[in-house]
Amino acid sequence: MKTHSKNPVFVSLVSFIFLLYSFAQFCYAATDTLRQGKTLRNGDTLISENSVFELGFFSPENSTFTYLGIWYKFNPKAVVWVANRDTPISHRNGVLRIQDDGKLVVRDGNNSLVWSSNVTGSLNNAAAKLLDTGNFVLSGDDSTGDLNRALWQSFNEPTDTVLPKMRVPVSFKRGEYRAYRSWKTPDDPSPGNYSMGVDPNGGHQLVIWDNNKRRWRSGQWNQQFFTGDPSTRNNASPLLGFGISQPDENGTMYITYAASNLDLIRFQITWEGRLKHSRWNAGKKKWDYLHSDPHPANECDLYNFCGNYSTCDQFDSRKCVCLEGFRPKSQDQWDARNWSGGCVRKIELQCLSTDDGTSGRKGKPDGFNKTKCTKLPDLANFFSPAGDLDACRRHCLENCSCTAYAFIPGIQCMIWTGDLVDLQRFQHGGSLEFFYRLHHSELDHGRKISNLIIVIVSLVVVGCLVATLWLVWRYKLKLKVVSSKLCCKDDDVAVFDVSKNKSKEFTTDLLRPTDILIDGNQVNRPELQNFNFSCIATATKNFCEVNRLGQGGFGAVYKGELPGGEQIAVKRLSGQSGQGLVEFKTEIILIAKLQHRNLVRLLGCSIKGEEKLLIYEYMPNKSLDNLLFDEAKKAELDWRTRFSIIEGIARGLLYLHRDSRHRIIHRDLKASNILLDAEMNPKISDFGMARMFGRNQNEANTVRVVGTYGYMSPEYAMEGLFSVKSDVYSFGVLLLEIVSGQRNNSFRSFDHTSLLTYAWCLWSEDKISDLVDHCIRDSYSPNEVLKCIQIGMLCVQDSPAHRPKMDAVVVFLEREAATLPMPTKPTYTSLRTAVEEEYVVDGQEMECSNDVTVTTIVGR
Ligand SMILES: *[C@@H]1O[C@H](CO)[C@@H](O)[C@H](O)[C@H]1NC(C)=O
Ligand SMILES: *[C@@H]1O[C@H](CO)[C@@H](O)[C@H](O)[C@H]1NC(C)=O
Ligand SMILES: *[C@@H]1O[C@H](CO)[C@@H](O)[C@H](O)[C@H]1NC(C)=O
Ligand SMILES: *[C@@H]1O[C@H](CO)[C@@H](O)[C@H](O)[C@H]1NC(C)=O
Ligand SMILES: *[C@@H]1O[C@H](CO)[C@@H](O)[C@H](O)[C@H]1NC(C)=O
Ligand SMILES: *[C@@H]1O[C@H](CO)[C@@H](O)[C@H](O)[C@H]1NC(C)=O
Ligand SMILES: *[C@@H]1O[C@H](CO)[C@@H](O)[C@H](O)[C@H]1NC(C)=O
Ligand SMILES: *[C@@H]1O[C@H](CO)[C@@H](O)[C@H](O)[C@H]1NC(C)=O
Ligand SMILES: *[C@@H]1O[C@H](CO)[C@@H](O)[C@H](O)[C@H]1NC(C)=O
Repeated sequence: MKTHSKNPVFVSLVSFIFLLYSFAQFCYAATDTLRQGKTLRNGDTLISENSVFELGFFSPENSTFTYLGIWYKFNPKAVVWVANRDTPISHRNGVLRIQDDGKLVVRDGNNSLVWSSNVTGSLNNAAAKLLDTGNFVLSGDDSTGDLNRALWQSFNEPTDTVLPKMRVPVSFKRGEYRAYRSWKTPDDPSPGNYSMGVDPNGGHQLVIWDNNKRRWRSGQWNQQFFTGDPSTRNNASPLLGFGISQPDENGTMYITYAASNLDLIRFQITWEGRLKHSRWNAGKKKWDYLHSDPHPANECDLYNFCGNYSTCDQFDSRKCVCLEGFRPKSQDQWDARNWSGGCVRKIELQCLSTDDGTSGRKGKPDGFNKTKCTKLPDLANFFSPAGDLDACRRHCLENCSCTAYAFIPGIQCMIWTGDLVDLQRFQHGGSLEFFYRLHHSELDHGRKISNLIIVIVSLVVVGCLVATLWLVWRYKLKLKVVSSKLCCKDDDVAVFDVSKNKSKEFTTDLLRPTDILIDGNQVNRPELQNFNFSCIATATKNFCEVNRLGQGGFGAVYKGELPGGEQIAVKRLSGQSGQGLVEFKTEIILIAKLQHRNLVRLLGCSIKGEEKLLIYEYMPNKSLDNLLFDEAKKAELDWRTRFSIIEGIARGLLYLHRDSRHRIIHRDLKASNILLDAEMNPKISDFGMARMFGRNQNEANTVRVVGTYGYMSPEYAMEGLFSVKSDVYSFGVLLLEIVSGQRNNSFRSFDHTSLLTYAWCLWSEDKISDLVDHCIRDSYSPNEVLKCIQIGMLCVQDSPAHRPKMDAVVVFLEREAATLPMPTKPTYTSLRTAVEEEYVVDGQEMECSNDVTVTTIVGR
């Protein structure tokens, strides 16, 4: 009984002592402060009050050295600061303590000094505390009686990581302008090749150096954003939150970084010299990278990639382009895509600043050409007294060595006196412009005479050509008269007896040997073969159902065979209603003018009364949808074939958009409009809905929204806005269909309503290979498929401005996937604002490329 009554008391006493002990242990382990006289050994740590940061000795993976550092207390450790990066400790016996004089020191097992906080003066009652921000602050009472003064903090001596609330001093006077330096390798914190800081030449820009060479720069800070990074303005930039303060009286400036929310952010300059911005995802317990292409994001982001006086454009297949008035220094190297030589002036400056030539020489003063949507050149001088653009211009004109000027709000007058270096062209968003100096004869007024010469020469050349063509045509005509007796071809216009024809206007429209007016554009009547209607009727066995190939939007398509044995495809337009007339005319006029191996060829047309026929070359493999979406036949399309079909379509589309004489927007690109010839070469067909524009022409026409749901870009389907980028969208859908073998608009899987959302879902979960059609799983090349999907996702982005142009797509198809930009999520939700922003023209936010067509829709 006695033992029984004692036992509980004893047990509870023991547990109390144990609890007390573990509580003390806990308290010790969780402390965030190191006091004077105490030591922190290898294995002990300080933990910030919010349990986010931890300080102690650590060894990087694969390394035997130990370092004193601060890290995010997650698994795996994310090290944000290292004290003794130059002097690693080779055994696990380092200690950190606050000496009697108040200095923080790290010593190794031999008690030799490895690192110390470099402070002058001594402290009493010193303590070092790890704050919730990740800052390690040493403070104490100094000899002057100042109590609890902070003498040293780790935020002032960062390594490779920027943390929110950091404020890092840089001082040109002391030559300390590089604030951050990368690790050497992922497992070696010693100083690497890359450093980041503020440009010592002024301009308040961030610069990444590769050893002593500039590698990247942010562009000048205008108190709001970095001018070389237009995406800072739409909150999409990794540089958002960075700022540079004005120098104080001692010439010290601060690089500040403020994250906009309470997220756990880590911003590194990696050992490979890129800015990596990541956020802790507490749910998934991993770091999410916030910007898939960190600076420097691509070749154009690399410092002066294109050489002097040359602009770099990532989305231009030429990549580097000399400024107007400049030529490549060495044309051979330039043609070989070696840009390092840059460009030089075509005509040297005479440096005349006034009209009357006061300098004693005769001639006109130099002038300036404006360029916009580019990164402002590096190495600017700043000239504050100039109050406005005009004063800035005069200041530049007066000094012979001035090569360019700009007047930027928030920076004021900028003057360049050396070569113009590191120019980059932006797709959109840059409203900043600068003016560069040219010899007067390079400017427009000087060009008029040379233009006149060019015009005269081209007139003569064109005249000769026309004469030659006419002769050839006459000769061919003679041959045809003979052959037309054999086949249906009929050159005799008299067949179309205008007087007997009811649709007189229409016939004369088409057959009068003059120009035709379409939507106010005068276009040449195409060279087109007329076919005899009854002969075509015979060729198709009177449009027999057996010969029917398919049903197009505006009529059925039949197979036929001409008397000579030539196979043809005949489209018969539903005549009675008069419907399809517009499409008929459009098709004739457009397609007859186009010649490309990836566009279907129109052989001719035939008109009799209400009957209107279009005659094409025959495609033995019919249309792509016939094969692609047929479970039995899709295996015929192995990956090689699919890839070459993709390339072919891209080239055909590029021809329509860029290379053909008239810019043409197809507007109805889809699998059923891609025909395949005997060798499976794709040919784009059905131009009934296409629109033609002259170069640089912006139209505002009333049109019907026509097209096929599932392939229509959001801005076209919802707002009727179309541009070359709507075709790019359709191309992206088509591309994903070709890879997956699934139709976009009849796609149902799990919760996904369309192929696009499904593809995005797989993409964001890194399971994109699940999208690949099961019947090419043996034949496909993972790299190419991945690249195609990525291009597809780029093309179907919501904002037209984000979609690449076809020339970029063609370049992408030849590239490695890793070098492509990252797509954003296709959703229709943010659509309206996106579209509106895109098309707003208010002088400030001008779209750079002038190829966006705005069309307003009036419902019919
Ligand atoms: C450590 O070494 C292994 C094997 O060599 C390697 O796979 C891993 O990436 C290395 N870790 C780091 C951080 O370098
Ligand atoms: C102490 O120093 C000696 C010679 O400098 C070195 O060989 C030894 O490894 C060091 N010991 C420790 C524990 O750091
Ligand atoms: C400490 O600072 C002084 C001047 O501020 C400098 O000359 C010295 O090299 C620094 N020492 C270390 C170890 O950084
Ligand atoms: C750093 O520079 C050195 C010499 O220039 C070079 O050998 C080394 O490969 C570079 N390291 C990295 C990570 O670029
Ligand atoms: C500038 O330097 C002087 C002398 O070192 C110092 O007293 C003063 O506080 C400094 N000014 C600022 C704004 O840091
Ligand atoms: C590019 O041209 C420069 C001279 O401007 C030359 O030194 C360099 O070797 C060339 N690079 C290549 C890859 O040909
Ligand atoms: C022209 O500008 C250069 C560079 O800023 C300067 O050195 C030179 O004195 C200026 N010349 C005149 C005449 O203002
Ligand atoms: C480009 O300009 C810079 C700065 O003026 C100059 O140092 C460099 O020699 C120029 N490069 C070439 C290839 O002319
Ligand atoms: C300026 O350059 C652009 C091309 O960048 C050119 O189209 C324009 O005619 C030039 N303007 C003058 C005034 O030379």
